[in-house]
Amino acid sequence: MSKPLTGKVALVTGGSRGLGAATVRLLAEQGADVAFTYVSSEERAQAVVDEGRGKGAKVVAFRSDQADTSRAPALIDDVVAHFGGLDILVNNAAISVNGAVDDPDADTAALDRMHATNYLGVIAVIRAASRVLRTGGRIITVSSGLASRAGIPGVADYAATKAGVQMYTMGAARDLGARDITANVVEAGMMEGGMEGPGPEALEALLGSLSLQRTGRPEEIAAAIAFLASPDASYVTGAVLDAHGGYNA
Ligand SMILES: NC(=O)c1ccc[n+]([C@@H]2O[C@H](COP(=O)([O-])OP(=O)(O)OC[C@H]3O[C@@H](n4cnc5c(N)ncnc54)[C@H](OP(=O)(O)O)[C@@H]3O)[C@@H](O)[C@H]2O)c1
Repeated sequence: MSKPLTGKVALVTGGSRGLGAATVRLLAEQGADVAFTYVSSEERAQAVVDEGRGKGAKVVAFRSDQADTSRAPALIDDVVAHFGGLDILVNNAAISVNGAVDDPDADTAALDRMHATNYLGVIAVIRAASRVLRTGGRIITVSSGLASRAGIPGVADYAATKAGVQMYTMGAARDLGARDITANVVEAGMMEGGMEGPGPEALEALLGSLSLQRTGRPEEIAAAIAFLASPDASYVTGAVLDAHGGYNA
């Protein structure tokens, strides 16, 4: 495999499992030195580190709770201290908490934690990273098809967090373009084995509405992220790349 990311340093938030782990693997295979975060899965994080190092890549994990926005500057300092700089930020870490807006028993503490993790936490990391990203840098925010169309009930809060960071990323593209830093979004689709979904019935309805009629594999979505991180995407910024099996077709 060619290594177009040799010499680049990447930070992938939420790299201990799911799409984040697939992205860590792919960016490392393409030559990048990769730091990633996690919050609770220490063993899984260590396994991702060990796998990367076993293949000769430089991979390091930092435990950093994205819901605590005050942590973001220290996280970026840690990455720069470890690898000497930062070129690629992948905003992947997120959680999902579902429920109807009129649910009287809604777990508002859990919903607030989701808003803190998926929205305020992502913004804090983008702010801190953008101050140190090198020329030619990349910001890639993982969103969801639900950010553009809330196609099923019970996803208002989750969809709102994703739509929010999507537009923040567009603003970053405008603010950072003069420094030759791009900022783009990948709207991911349903993946098996990932975060908690909105329940079996809603999932079936969602699947049936997709052009490809199937869930995606994390590796398929990671490939879209890797394209935006690559030198080939140097003139792509402020874009939304749909990797959700044709949810909007
Ligand atoms: N799965 C889907 O069907 C789907 C569909 C559309 C979009 N997406 C988007 O794709 C991305 C990845 O989803 P996924 O299904 O791969 O997720 P996942 O399997 O649930 O993994 C989430 C990752 O984020 C980390 N994380 C969660 N809360 C965190 C926090 N407060 N601080 C730091 N790290 C935290 C987790 O760390 P720990 O392991 O330590 O908890 C884990 O590494 C998300 O942005 C999601 O919104 C997913």
